[in-house]
Amino acid sequence: MALWGGRFDKAADPLFREINDSLPFDYRLAAQDIAGSVAWAGAIQRAGVLTADEHRRLVSALADLAVLVEENPRAPLEEQEKAATESPGTPEDIHSWVEAELIRAVGDLGKKLHTGRSRNDQAATGLRLWVRCEIDARLAEVRAAQRSLVALAEREAATILPGYTHLQRAQPVLMAHWALAYFEMLERDAARLAGARRRANLCPLGSAALAGTTYPIDRAALARDLGFDAPTANSLDAVADRDFVVETLAAASLCAVHLSRLGEELILWSSGEFGFVELDDSVTSGSSLMPQKKNPDALELLRGKCGRIAGAHAALTVTLKGLPLAYNKDMQEDKEPLFDAMGSLSLCLRIVPRVLDGMKVDRGRCREAAAGGHSNATELADYLVGKGVPFRDAHEVVGRVVRHALAAGRALEALTLDEFRKFDARIGPDVLAALTLEAGLTRREVPGGTGPQAVAAAIARAKRSLGGGAA
Ligand code: ARG
Repeated sequence: MALWGGRFDKAADPLFREINDSLPFDYRLAAQDIAGSVAWAGAIQRAGVLTADEHRRLVSALADLAVLVEENPRAPLEEQEKAATESPGTPEDIHSWVEAELIRAVGDLGKKLHTGRSRNDQAATGLRLWVRCEIDARLAEVRAAQRSLVALAEREAATILPGYTHLQRAQPVLMAHWALAYFEMLERDAARLAGARRRANLCPLGSAALAGTTYPIDRAALARDLGFDAPTANSLDAVADRDFVVETLAAASLCAVHLSRLGEELILWSSGEFGFVELDDSVTSGSSLMPQKKNPDALELLRGKCGRIAGAHAALTVTLKGLPLAYNKDMQEDKEPLFDAMGSLSLCLRIVPRVLDGMKVDRGRCREAAAGGHSNATELADYLVGKGVPFRDAHEVVGRVVRHALAAGRALEALTLDEFRKFDARIGPDVLAALTLEAGLTRREVPGGTGPQAVAAAIARAKRSLGGGAA
């Protein structure tokens, strides 16, 4: 039964049903719609629309329905598949489905629930509840990914690897420092998701179709019943606003961007050319043709899923652009990108610990790469600065030393003191100590730097931020 049949002579065109119906995807909002309906039943009982007994019967039928969809989340779809899809009698969305089921369970009483309510405030409420719950799940997943980054940082606290700019070896860093860089990105992602959750956590119910309900609803109590911080402030805005979805998708897409960078770096590192890490078999695949291959598929998908998540954000932003107030059916297009993006982000976040926890680090290889590429050239320049040479001049001198070393096919620390002195007589025998990997690191004990003590402090800070059940 359609919810709006009264003024229509003709049944809906099957193709119209196909473009119009949202049940095939918004069935996922069943639990939220039922929770909103239970709260609404309470609100209209307090407003004198339902007797205590009617309220009790409605709530009990809704509770049965909640059990049904909890046990079988696809129940709304199965019902619909059973009925002929062209039949005008099948529910078009989850809100119609819940109401139809309610009427089936309690008869005419079920028809009272929609008093003072519209699918517009109902849909906005259900989606806010869904977003809130999904953000909580993503936050826990972000925390778990951060925990595995910190565990990696602790395991590899002494592992030195090349830090890159332009993908050219630049200066050595600790692997722990690298891992904590991703920790920081995820820290900001968590803050953005939490901010989106805060702004999503308002209750539209009571806004009705667009102008506000005519019944004396206690909106503050209703908001409290659903765990919202407050009722929304403007009925037109409440039914037309999908900022909370856009914001959630923006936060999700930036988080996916971060994870794609992590994925890409580890793909490079696990290649034969780098050989810094070896991935566990359990997160890789083989080739059907080339027996020697071990492909980093999990990481490639970590990198690749970013496209659809960022795409979801773009899709909804464009859908909302220029929409007049208040509700328009365009807004039904909010759901599929949101569902897809949140599911994809969840997979990405959950695979991170699987990859990191099982990853073997070749410390020798990392160290060798860090020692190569003349990436201690800055150390030599700083050494000269210590001898009173202005940095610009030191940079010039070291440039010439590097050219000489390159031509000779040797590392800077392999040059003799005599060779060094040809470039600048102020270079003394203490230069070799200044050129070791360890010297380069310990000179960077600035807060936020890669010095071993600075990194140990950063690990401690990261653990404090995760501790105390932050997840
Ligand atoms: N299925 C709709 C949606 O998801 C529910 C709201 C429908 N409201 C309306 N007036 N047709 O947006």
